[in-house]
Amino acid sequence: MAMQHAPIIAPSILAADFSRLGEEIARIHNADWVHVDIMDGHFVPNLSFGPDIAATVHRLTDKPLDVHLMIEEPERWVERYAQAGAHTLIFHVEATADPVALARQIRALGVRAAFSVKPGTPIEPYLEHLEHFDEVLVMSVEPGFGGQSFMPEQLEKVRTLRRTIDERGLDTLIEIDGGISESTIAQAAEAGCDAFVAGSAVYKADDPAAVVDSLRTLARR
Ligand code: DX5
Ligand code: ZN
Repeated sequence: MAMQHAPIIAPSILAADFSRLGEEIARIHNADWVHVDIMDGHFVPNLSFGPDIAATVHRLTDKPLDVHLMIEEPERWVERYAQAGAHTLIFHVEATADPVALARQIRALGVRAAFSVKPGTPIEPYLEHLEHFDEVLVMSVEPGFGGQSFMPEQLEKVRTLRRTIDERGLDTLIEIDGGISESTIAQAAEAGCDAFVAGSAVYKADDPAAVVDSLRTLARR
């Protein structure tokens, strides 16, 4: 049985007001991590921001940055994002030919390595490589945009990961991203997630910190 982790709440600043990023990050002072969504307009149809803004976020907070690379050719960019202050670098398996080599490259930079799977990508081919990863991010929406509806069928991947990780005694964390809110987080926790990304549920609220606390309470199993 793997160690038990407290639920980790990682607000996505994609849903924040970029004209006042410092204040927006201060509004989630009780969060565990800050989730940083990088979109290149190719791997996903939307464009967000790049390494310079990620470095700005790093200057604005002491919290670990969970950097989600929704980009093509992630191997060309991981060093830049490591320098920008990433604590974890999450790449998509759909964007690289050799996920294990890329995980090694990321760990050699002193950064935690993670992979993500889009809703249509099965998890089974990657189970044998889990020891190379500090975290797995299961997408519960099609990546590219905040504010979409949670896809509960994706929790089947979480259950498979939870079983495999526990059976092998690994300490790989399971994170979920997309449509997480006060009405969906409990089922994701129940399925075995350790970490929870929430964008619009946190930032569209009047009191983002209160939502962070509430999400953490609801995620406690
Ligand atoms: C989607 C991003 C998510 C997104 C989550 O492509 O990876 O991190 O910001 O936003 P919500 O919580 O609004 O679904
Ligand atoms: Zn994300």
